[in-house]
Amino acid sequence: MQARRGGASRAVVLGAAGQLGREVVDELRRHGTEVLAADRARADLRDTRETAALAARFGAQAIFNCAACTDVDGCESNPDLAMEVNGRAPERLAAALASDCSLIHVSTDYVFDGLGQRPYREDHATAPRSAYGRSKLHGEQGVLDAGGLVVRTSWVFGPEGRNFVSAIASRLGRGAPVRVVTDQVGCPTYARYLARALVDLAAAGASGIVHYCNSPPTSWHGFALAIAEALGLNVSIAPTSSSELTRPATRPAYSVLDTAHFEALTNRGVENWRSGLEEYFERLRQGRSES
Ligand SMILES: NC(=O)c1ccc[n+]([C@@H]2O[C@H](COP(=O)([O-])OP(=O)(O)OC[C@H]3O[C@@H](n4cnc5c(N)ncnc54)[C@H](OP(=O)(O)O)[C@@H]3O)[C@@H](O)[C@H]2O)c1
Repeated sequence: MQARRGGASRAVVLGAAGQLGREVVDELRRHGTEVLAADRARADLRDTRETAALAARFGAQAIFNCAACTDVDGCESNPDLAMEVNGRAPERLAAALASDCSLIHVSTDYVFDGLGQRPYREDHATAPRSAYGRSKLHGEQGVLDAGGLVVRTSWVFGPEGRNFVSAIASRLGRGAPVRVVTDQVGCPTYARYLARALVDLAAAGASGIVHYCNSPPTSWHGFALAIAEALGLNVSIAPTSSSELTRPATRPAYSVLDTAHFEALTNRGVENWRSGLEEYFERLRQGRSES
């Protein structure tokens, strides 16, 4: 597999119905790239031969893999499925691709244990604490072994998906009580900004691991307060802790990603998630996501 400078004229997006996949399809089309938008029905990531053949028939010069099992707690009760979709399938796909087709693969801050106190650089030791994190780490390694690009990101929200923003907004809208943890710190990332970053990195011919997220770091509680503020709601959000709000999968306490490598590769800084949040609600108000 080889990285291609200048971007691809034809690309396949896997997981094209997901919150990130939809944005990547739109972003590539804005760049004039011809896109085959493949949802799970069109290309099941586990079917390596068919997926690689689909890309070859289309004449893809790049594949953006936005497909994954993203139900972090669900992965805990079905680790085999998580490992197959997030781990082995990208590994097989990377190895099967033609040498003139590059693979841009999305991974996660959950590959870290979260015990750090400074932003994680790309070369920091990984130690996932969940089945999801372990499966994503396996996938990363397979993609890297084949010379692809792995972009780790965090706390993704887009108007076409079910995510923390939609969950909090829905609870606030119903007047339901909201309790959110203060002891998990990371960086929210707006899906459209992430899509732009993926396309920019692909055009720069990047390979290896690159961290990309929005700034500044906050806790989930801080993020929830910002969501209420963006909705113009003056409500209280009860602070709680991870030990009080137990969930099947352990989340990293601190998972801020260092984006210096991204900034050097693309010659630009990362966006503030607050502007992404404003745009998110604006797009929902307009009743469409193509603003
Ligand atoms: N969401 C986050 O906070 C976050 C944070 C860090 C990293 N990431 C990474 O970002 C990427 C995009 O995530 P997202 O937030 O866009 O998630 P998403 O909205 O759940 O999208 C994932 C898509 O993958 C599809 N999919 C699942 N299994 C598949 C399979 N076997 N073959 C083909 N497609 C399959 C899903 O289809 P169905 O709906 O039919 O299952 C869904 O459309 C993933 O790699 C994820 O690990 C996400």
